[in-house]
Amino acid sequence: MSGPDLRRAAAARALDLVEPGMRLGIGTGSTANAFVELLGERVRGGLDIVGVPTSEATHAAATRAGIRLATLDEVPELDLTIDGADEVDDTLRLIKGGGAALLREKIVAFASRRMVVIADAAKRVGTLGRFPLPIEVNPFGLAATHRAVEAAVSRAGCAGEVALRRTADGAPLLTDGGHHILDAHLGRIPDPEALSAALWAVPGVVEHGLFLGIASAAILAADRDGAAEVT
Ligand code: A5P
Repeated sequence: MSGPDLRRAAAARALDLVEPGMRLGIGTGSTANAFVELLGERVRGGLDIVGVPTSEATHAAATRAGIRLATLDEVPELDLTIDGADEVDDTLRLIKGGGAALLREKIVAFASRRMVVIADAAKRVGTLGRFPLPIEVNPFGLAATHRAVEAAVSRAGCAGEVALRRTADGAPLLTDGGHHILDAHLGRIPDPEALSAALWAVPGVVEHGLFLGIASAAILAADRDGAAEVT
């Protein structure tokens, strides 16, 4: 089975968790997009829910799918958030932010009673860190913040390059919130809680992509002899 089929299988299982009247956080990325498409079909069939999108991209996709949307200010408490992830470990610690939406994703997930991750089972890891950790930073004092993030990473027992994320034309990427992203290429993160605390000690850090103690479950789809096994 291809990656898109596995992402769709995980998204389809997540749809079983959605009940009429729910206030739903809607994630960002290709797996979340598969969920948006399937949710849109249900909505067009009469399901009444309200969604809070985690990015401008998801806002556009959900609008196209006919899903009724609200802001988190209008609906500050959510029943459930469904979102993808870049890595998931055995205790449901995550790396997110490959799509640069980590700030809104974390705010929305934190405002939800439950956050359920949907992903290709290839995202499951023993130790977080093979995927570069996105760190969202304020543009003011970028060079100083970059140096301070490198020092924080090293204090937390990690090693590797910290690189400013750029768009295809070479300009520093701007997030939906008008910030930049530093990607920390660490290989492994031996103590995610220590790294989180070290990053929080840096004033220019707006948010980082370690989601610790936030996800309540993960729906992972793997290829088993040409069929999707969803666990
Ligand atoms: C967006 O910023 C990310 O957190 C995504 O949720 C994550 O990158 C997963 O994306 P895919 O579902 O496209 O792999």
